[in-house]
Amino acid sequence: MSQFLSNCSVDVLVVAAQALRDGSLVAFPTETVYGLGADATNAQAVARIYEAKGRPSGHPLIVHIADLKYLDKWISDIPEYAIALAREFWPGPMTLILQRSELAKDFVTGGQNTVGIRIPDNSLALGLLEAFHKLGGSGIAAPSANRFGQVSPTTAEAVKEELGNYFADTDLVLDGGQSVIGVESTIIDCTGEIPRVLRPGAITIEMIEEVSGLKVLNSTEKNSDDLKQEFIRVSGSLENHYAPKAKVFLDQQPVVGSGFIALESINTPDGVIRLAAPESVEEFARVLYSALREGDYQNLDSIYIAQPTGEGLAIAIRDRLSRSAKGR
Ligand code: TXA
Ligand code: MG
Repeated sequence: MSQFLSNCSVDVLVVAAQALRDGSLVAFPTETVYGLGADATNAQAVARIYEAKGRPSGHPLIVHIADLKYLDKWISDIPEYAIALAREFWPGPMTLILQRSELAKDFVTGGQNTVGIRIPDNSLALGLLEAFHKLGGSGIAAPSANRFGQVSPTTAEAVKEELGNYFADTDLVLDGGQSVIGVESTIIDCTGEIPRVLRPGAITIEMIEEVSGLKVLNSTEKNSDDLKQEFIRVSGSLENHYAPKAKVFLDQQPVVGSGFIALESINTPDGVIRLAAPESVEEFARVLYSALREGDYQNLDSIYIAQPTGEGLAIAIRDRLSRSAKGR
């Protein structure tokens, strides 16, 4: 069993950074979801991420860094528009896919010539990263801290539920409370002439277009077979992902005894178990994954969800839900 560390002081973060340098895993909070971190330059440590998650090899990992000054180490090229996005939205819920440098080995990139990089906007994550860089570390590889295909954790307790059985004694979980955004980062492929969104998130297409001054290609609606092969590489874009044990039904009348997630303005039908009643789309994103977990905790067979409409973050929510509804 791993150690569970709350009220993380600077000392605790140094201990955690040293654990990473020694090859252990450290789960940590970010503003999107909790990540399962390993030294991104240590092949054995990264292999343990795949083991703990039960994730097939060949799925690339995001490398997290503390500051733009560490970006150059990891990449060999960056277009102007990506520099503008990085300056505007980092630290923040955005991952940029860029041409990799020698440092980004196949075991992190899944054998691709690109690497995913993110600077998270969470004080514990940034504190851990800074401490890690101080000890000579280059970056922390971290996927969401859940078993492959399941719901991402937005609390330290959820990390324990997901991965508790797969941790070693020397692994750590940092408790930073609830993730404020609640859905994973926007992934933007920046290897072409224009940005291409591979996974929608809190950094929306409108925001990317405004800062880059370019029309964005949206690859998240998978309607072309050409793109399908490529999507396999983005495991979060596999059709069945983010799935609880309960069967998820979207935009249908809930049946008696089932769970129900909808905006607060929508009433709960008689005999239905309300799992969340968020007041805004932002709150919807924040509570969604814990509400799905709560449904499983209550052993519900089915969860009905009235999806938020509109653009922005609602697109990311509907993207995840369409996959949850495909089941496990
Ligand atoms: O918000 C987030 O991004 C969280 C926190 C922990 O940072 N991380 C996260 O990681 O969601 P993960 O591994 O669960 O999802 C990252 C996605 C995967 O689907 C992976 O295939 C894709 O990013 N990815 C990473 N590197 C890539 C690359 N070089 N090219 C294409 N896709 C890449
Ligand atoms: Mg994930």
